Amino acid sequence: MQEPSVTATEKGIHKKDREHGLSTNGMLLVPSAKRMVRSLRDMGYEFAAAVADLIDNSVAAKANTVRVNVEWEGSKSYVLIADNGEGMRPEVLQEALRFGTERDYDEGDLGKFGLGLKTASLSQCLRVTVATRWNPARADIMAYCWDVEHIEATNRWEVLSVKAADLPSAARLHLKETPGTVVIWERLDRLLGFKFPEGESARKHLLGMARELEQHAAMVFHRFLASEVRGKRLAIYVNDNRVEAWDPFARKETKTQKLEPKTFRVEGEKGKGDVIIEPYVLPSQALFSTPEAFNRASGPRKWNAQQGFYIYRADRLIQSGGWCGLRATDEHRKLARIAISFNPKLDDEFKINVPKMRVLLPPAIRDDVEKWIKPAVKLAEEVYRHGKPKSPPPPPPPPPQQPGGDTDPDDDVTLLGDEDQDPPVSPPPSPPRPSGKRKATRSELDVVAGLLIQVALPEEIEALENAIARARPLTET
Ligand SMILES: Nc1ncnc2c1ncn2[C@@H]1O[C@H](COP(=O)(O)OP(=O)(O)OP(=O)(O)O)[C@@H](O)[C@H]1O
Ligand SMILES: [Mg+2]
Repeated sequence: MQEPSVTATEKGIHKKDREHGLSTNGMLLVPSAKRMVRSLRDMGYEFAAAVADLIDNSVAAKANTVRVNVEWEGSKSYVLIADNGEGMRPEVLQEALRFGTERDYDEGDLGKFGLGLKTASLSQCLRVTVATRWNPARADIMAYCWDVEHIEATNRWEVLSVKAADLPSAARLHLKETPGTVVIWERLDRLLGFKFPEGESARKHLLGMARELEQHAAMVFHRFLASEVRGKRLAIYVNDNRVEAWDPFARKETKTQKLEPKTFRVEGEKGKGDVIIEPYVLPSQALFSTPEAFNRASGPRKWNAQQGFYIYRADRLIQSGGWCGLRATDEHRKLARIAISFNPKLDDEFKINVPKMRVLLPPAIRDDVEKWIKPAVKLAEEVYRHGKPKSPPPPPPPPPQQPGGDTDPDDDVTLLGDEDQDPPVSPPPSPPRPSGKRKATRSELDVVAGLLIQVALPEEIEALENAIARARPLTET
């Protein structure tokens, strides 16, 4: 590093800093591209969540059709996500490709961080190409790519231009027909992490991922797919199969019960916003219209894991199932599903993360939400036990004195046997007795819970939430 031309004492630079080339006037430090890009690939996206992040962009660009093709060609396999949205003018494309895109967001916009396109894509592949056409009157295509191997070789944040002729023919044909954007993922190292990417196992794995994606998209975008979001219609195709909306609340079933909804107003950093709670109790197996309808309602992760909260940000599902640490997952409650909808103004309060795969229930409303959902949880337990609701519901028994592994003091459930194919759930272990002098307060627990859930891996969330739920009765309010 070059010696500063003025003496250190003149500029007030400490000797130690001078040795490192630092000055008190500050200094521009550009991150190491090759180091950063490796870390940015590991934000915790799963394949389906990564594609969903790209579909968010298509919805934000007013597309009404998104086609996802997962093309098996051995080590040359690729994924193509094509929309018929507004496309991007050159200056928008340039900014779109930048890590940390700068732009304003409308209320209800699905974007937030300016990262998804890049981080979601590179979490799955080593090369992402973005090809776009904005002009309805002319089929001019512009395309650039981020190539991890190029970044590593040059250590520069440099995108490479791609000629239209070098795009996969499906991308060219798509943009010939309509303005829009096509994103192409190539060199699928994460998806084809096999020793023999040409082999049958790799092919099966890739096709399995496509099927998982169908289920995930059907759930995450169900409000859009079912035209429940005003002014937004959306059709998604995965390998030419049209994705049918999956309604977590089975609202078409006549025996599904909707309980009283409630709106909580939350004062956020960016203004006030409403959080809408809509509790549902689904019918037991015997009361579903058909066995197929019951199986379909079980959802991608099946009944037990799909119980709990369905949290929507601007109508897009972020979290599906789980109780956010308010309760433990329990076989008896599996028919309870509760929609929670919030506006992006409350993003900070819900602590949304970049992959948009999970949120936290704001501490300010946790207790209110817990109270509001109690009748739904109770009813769900009754429906589970008796096949149909009793009327009127029995008075709640006195709260148990010993910490018995269940967080709901009203819970006196007798297990009558499973009604579906879920594996039996073993009773949660008893919570440890607090040994210190002072009990932790509920808000202390909320802070710690929030931190833990933010750093947890997706597969750890459920166990963590269950542990938090068991700790709740041991805290002071
Ligand atoms: N399919 C698309 N059609 C049109 N514009 C797009 C498309 N995909 C991305 N863009 C543009 O690129 C920008 C960057 O996208 P990116 O997903 O990286 O960030 P974001 O959507 O702004 O925020 P987030 O990180 O929360 O997703 C978008 O804001 C949008 O302007
Ligand atoms: Mg985005």
